Amino acid sequence: MSADSVAELVPSVAALQNALDAEDYLADEGLATAVFLAVRMRQPLLLEGEPGVGKTEIAKALARLLDTQLFRLQCYEGISAGEALYEWNYPRQLLGIRLAEARGVELAETELFGRDYLLRRPLLRAIEHAGPRPAVLLLDEIDRADAEFEAFTFELLAEAAVTIPELGTVEATHPPIVILTSNRTRDLHDALTRRCLYHWIDYPGPERIAQIVRRRVPSSSQAIATDAAAAITRLRSLDLVKPPGIAEAIDWVSALGVLGIEQLSARAVEQTWGSVLKNRDDLDLVASRGSAWVAKAAGA
Ligand SMILES: Nc1ncnc2c1ncn2[C@@H]1O[C@H](COP(=O)(O)OP(=O)(O)O)[C@@H](O)[C@H]1O
Ligand SMILES: [Mg+2]
Repeated sequence: MSADSVAELVPSVAALQNALDAEDYLADEGLATAVFLAVRMRQPLLLEGEPGVGKTEIAKALARLLDTQLFRLQCYEGISAGEALYEWNYPRQLLGIRLAEARGVELAETELFGRDYLLRRPLLRAIEHAGPRPAVLLLDEIDRADAEFEAFTFELLAEAAVTIPELGTVEATHPPIVILTSNRTRDLHDALTRRCLYHWIDYPGPERIAQIVRRRVPSSSQAIATDAAAAITRLRSLDLVKPPGIAEAIDWVSALGVLGIEQLSARAVEQTWGSVLKNRDDLDLVASRGSAWVAKAAGA
């Protein structure tokens, strides 16, 4: 494929939307446009939205449709540059020293800090990615990392290059397509948001949830998917600690299928609480409304 193959694979927003659809990811036009611009302008895309709205999944689907590699960095509190970029492989360096001693040979420091002793983490691997198409780099749940880490990754991404003191500068030949996600547990740095394209993914309505469920659980009927989506939407109107999301809707419909349940009755709901509600207080609250309330058909 030619160097321009990303543009060939993704010639328009509609083409991208169709290609995502073929990967079983349903994107509305707004989201597809944001991703299209990120791909074509090679500008990082910050996706925000509640947990379970498909932020992580779209990065995976994008990598699949571009037939390229996905490098994912799952962020967490206290994550360090060493875990994101690279570390020296100390055990291996020690072993190298021991072996050299045993053989009675001299080992130069430059050898110990050579490429063989480098542990490559996702950011470095994305920068070093050899192509033919750019990799997709997913910085997942960046809001969990602290602000310094955020600033660190960002400088690096802006330059698509990294300097390793012992080795020199590694420049990306194929700068990665960068997707950052945030569940919005805190506000992100201005420096980061300024450089990114931004898209907020809304929680989908019941029809969209049903469509997604049918994609993800192909054996499910339209009726059960519609009922489950309506029930999930109803549950989300309560003040729950852990409101069920799309993942729960998918699990729920799978569980109903395994149990051979074709209609969402009060009894079916009671049998399958555990696929949907994952918090004791939520269970109590919903039980007080009653399983029949959860199960009732949309609009009934
Ligand atoms: N638009 C969508 N199309 C297809 N599947 C989706 C969509 N949105 C969410 N999902 C599914 O819902 C689940 C949760 O999505 P995920 O990407 O993990 O959410 P997030 O990263 O926003 O918390 C996954 O199983 C994913 O496949
Ligand atoms: Mg996620």
